[in-house]
Amino acid sequence: MKLFSSVNDVTDIQSLVKEALHLKQNPYAYQQLGKNKTLGLVFLNPSLRTRMSTQKAGLNLGMNVMVLNMDKEGWALELQDGVIMNSNTVEHIREAAAVLGQYADIIGLRSFPGLKDRNDDYSENIFNKFVKYCGVPVVSLESATRHPLQSLADLVTIEELKTTPRPKVVMTWAPHIKALPQAVPNSFAEWMCKADVDFTIVHPRGYELCGDFTQGATITHNQDEALADADFIYVKNWSAYEPYGKIFSGNEDWMLTNERLKITNNAKIMHCLPVRRNLELSDEILDGKNSIVVHEAANRVWAAQAVLKRMLETLS
Ligand code: CP
Repeated sequence: MKLFSSVNDVTDIQSLVKEALHLKQNPYAYQQLGKNKTLGLVFLNPSLRTRMSTQKAGLNLGMNVMVLNMDKEGWALELQDGVIMNSNTVEHIREAAAVLGQYADIIGLRSFPGLKDRNDDYSENIFNKFVKYCGVPVVSLESATRHPLQSLADLVTIEELKTTPRPKVVMTWAPHIKALPQAVPNSFAEWMCKADVDFTIVHPRGYELCGDFTQGATITHNQDEALADADFIYVKNWSAYEPYGKIFSGNEDWMLTNERLKITNNAKIMHCLPVRRNLELSDEILDGKNSIVVHEAANRVWAAQAVLKRMLETLS
């Protein structure tokens, strides 16, 4: 594997999930694979889980790991070609990515969307330019439209904790005060549509996701109907795709409570984190026995390790 940017870069999802669960049982079994190999993690935006779990995954595989918080510590990046750089940007992505590719055997990149220009965000302008110019395998640490390491960890978690062969998985929109990207819900939908699950997306009218990511999902606007008999509930806020990046008021009652859980099949509650308590998810849910959000975050290590192992096998 030379690129991990979406589910489409994976030939056999089930085999990658199995690999992650195997690594969870045998974290240090492949330390020779990463010996004298360097992982460079480049963040254009903040992170807790992705940064630490991917770093740990690289270390478990015997790699050296370097982290660059480019948004705070790097030079201001220019993305446009042919411009006269006489304003605030200091370094062009052409040189920055090419140089980083000289220092690392594998690079991870986090590049959030601006949420202003949909065409620019959905073209994955920053991520694709970085891939083009760095010249080494690249792992997405969340791009403008997708978060594949999160989605793989989510699928690993469902596989691990499911009690029926084909569980009902419901992704429900949740309230928030800020406009958040569609990357996590796009990506979760894309992975669930290819997994062996019964998948439903429920959201208020106006929050329809781009149809490219939801082919095969049941999509509805009635939260109670959607949650009925659910085995897993994936809670997430996102801003509108059309009009792009906008949020609408009046949906505060979409926050999940214990009362709503009664109609589910004792559903396990997932969230990628960070989560705003009592806005997106109630204290009673997060502190209750059905929440698996920390277990899910822990699985980020094994998802990242499975992907890095596949990339290292390509290198050697
Ligand atoms: N879920 C997730 O990607 O968390 P961070 O933004 O903290 O990395």
